[in-house]
Amino acid sequence: MDLGLAGRRALVSGGSQGIGWAVASRLLREGASVAICARNEQGVATAVKELSRTGAVVGHVCDFSDEDAVRRWVDLAAEALGGIDIVVSNASASGQHGTGPSPWEVNFRVDVLGCVALCEAAKPYLERSDAAAIVQIGTSTAIEHHDVPISPSYGALKAATINYMAQLAQRWGPEGIRANTVSPGPILIEGRKWDSLRERRPEIFERDRDAHPTKRMGTAEEVANIVAMLASPAASWVNGANVMVDGGFTKRVGF
Ligand SMILES: NC(=O)c1ccc[n+]([C@@H]2O[C@H](COP(=O)([O-])OP(=O)(O)OC[C@H]3O[C@@H](n4cnc5c(N)ncnc54)[C@H](OP(=O)(O)O)[C@@H]3O)[C@@H](O)[C@H]2O)c1
Repeated sequence: MDLGLAGRRALVSGGSQGIGWAVASRLLREGASVAICARNEQGVATAVKELSRTGAVVGHVCDFSDEDAVRRWVDLAAEALGGIDIVVSNASASGQHGTGPSPWEVNFRVDVLGCVALCEAAKPYLERSDAAAIVQIGTSTAIEHHDVPISPSYGALKAATINYMAQLAQRWGPEGIRANTVSPGPILIEGRKWDSLRERRPEIFERDRDAHPTKRMGTAEEVANIVAMLASPAASWVNGANVMVDGGFTKRVGF
């Protein structure tokens, strides 16, 4: 199936690793050009080098806890790509406990205010696209209790972004901008969070792995495939949805 992504211009926040990297890679393979950002300069440079084997990609350093920096990145990326058709809001503070401000504050700044700044800054560009789409990366933790050693701010504030997307679908829909959420369950990526939890807290890892009907965790590529579909013109009639990509990890009945 041709998703109609060839020639589209996409921004992926937090695209240097993990799910964001996989999304950028999938969009590039579909013929889109992509701008990524992350905080670590070396990480961005390495990702751009790897991803550029597949297609046209640019990378910038940007910390999503800084709204002004987000707005600057959007303008830089739009200039580099010649416009914006797709925004994938993927960067997250992930509910990590640190030594600085409280996880609630950091999660609010990065996940909520960063996402709002990204969407608002991209809107003038999206308005000029004939197939504009925003995809927010949510989490299953936003809709079902998940007993993991991270701050409760993570699920609570991701829930706020799911609500925000549903509102944007209504408010910006008349201007031809679709807004949807993709909510992954636990995703196993080499060297990343669940891989590290497998070492540190094997009982939690195994409990969650076994809560999947297939007794395995998802992959970044399985999330990226659905993000690309929702971001594409092939999903032109999907707006305001929260699509679970969790292999049946969550148990609610989605009426
Ligand atoms: N992995 C899972 O199991 C899972 C499950 C459900 C939902 N999700 C969601 O999926 C998204 C990606 O998660 P992931 O597991 O792929 O994360 P990851 O492997 O830790 O990668 C995060 C990416 O975002 C960048 N990043 C982190 N903080 C940032 C900030 N403040 N500003 C800009 N970039 C930042 C990182 O690069 P730098 O560190 O260099 O900034 C990196 O490129 C997140 O929204 C997460 O909540 C993940």
